[in-house]
Amino acid sequence: MSDPANSRGVTDPKEIAGADPHTGEREIDPVTGYDTTGHQWGPIRELNTPFPMIALVALALAFGYSVIAWFLLPAWPTGRHYTPGLLALDQGQEAMRDFRAIQARRGEWFSRFADPDFASLVADRSLMAEVMPAATRLYHDNCAACHGDDGGGGPGFPNLRDNHWLWGGEPAKIAETIAVGINSDDTDTRVAQMPSFDWIEIAERNSIADYVVQLPSGNTDPASAGGKLFADNCASCHGDGGVGGLDNGAPSLTDHSVIYGQDLSTELITLRHGRQGVMPAWVPRLTVEEVNLLALYVWQRSATASKVMK
Ligand code: HEC
Ligand code: HEC
Repeated sequence: MSDPANSRGVTDPKEIAGADPHTGEREIDPVTGYDTTGHQWGPIRELNTPFPMIALVALALAFGYSVIAWFLLPAWPTGRHYTPGLLALDQGQEAMRDFRAIQARRGEWFSRFADPDFASLVADRSLMAEVMPAATRLYHDNCAACHGDDGGGGPGFPNLRDNHWLWGGEPAKIAETIAVGINSDDTDTRVAQMPSFDWIEIAERNSIADYVVQLPSGNTDPASAGGKLFADNCASCHGDGGVGGLDNGAPSLTDHSVIYGQDLSTELITLRHGRQGVMPAWVPRLTVEEVNLLALYVWQRSATASKVMK
């Protein structure tokens, strides 16, 4: 295709806008709209799409940066080691330095939890303010999945925030519960067995269940059939009148602080099949210091603590 510029008498091909510098011809590819270079391989024509200058500049800058970085920063592997660079940065060592600093700061108070005098720990307000963030993290990492973010528990998992305890609510008792667990695989585990009463006549089971459902209301008659059956079969573990507090893992049945539930159908399931909830043992998964810290944390957030500390 001949260009009208040629016909105007321009002889230098470079002066024809967009024209091939060798031939002076300008040919536009009808499909893409690009100029062509004039090179042709069989039926294939080469489009004139030069590499963008900005990419070349970026490439050159990146290469320049990498050369500088080779000198300044850790770069080339040399077998077991590497070239450290003129700045001698080592993020591994930096992380270890920070970690040791945290441990040293923690060490100042952490050792006081090894064999704690809980009363004097609680009295030390600035210490408590310092340790509670670590305790909160420990609780959320290890306990919240079962006992809830706020310690409020749920079906099958006891509430840790109220004033009712299966195994005692002083920090030392709580620490032991956490350390050895309940029905856990620890050799010193606390054992809580609610036996099955499936051997009792269904009619009697119903009357016991009716009696127990009424216990929180206080409107129960110990001389009723259910009351007598309760005294014979249940009071040895749950206490007279079901008040609990025997520190044998059997909950009080007179309040609403229950593990499984105190409606009639849950009650009948408990009587028929028994119960044996499992709380894992946390030593040695956690250190003794961490367990004691958690015990204080749980205690401090419970209604038991607010009674003592008001
Ligand atoms: C050998 C001791 C023992 C005897 C006897 C016993 N219980 Fe229990 N009971 C327990 C223990 C321990 C638990 C807690 C089970 C657990 O931790 O999973 C429990 C749990 C329960 C619960 C569930 C409470 C909740 O918080 O949801 C009910 C209800 C109950 N018992 C009723 C009875 C009744 C009614 C009887 C008598 C027919 C009885 N128990 C006899 C030890 C006993
Ligand atoms: C896998 C679930 C699970 C996890 C995780 C768990 N618990 Fe428990 N916890 C239980 C169950 C279930 C019970 C009640 C066991 C029973 O008596 O039936 C319990 C009971 C307790 C008790 C006894 C409450 C009382 O009334 O005496 C304390 C205290 C306790 N847990 C604290 C903790 C702490 C602190 C952690 C975190 C280190 C934790 N638990 C992690 C399931 C769990």
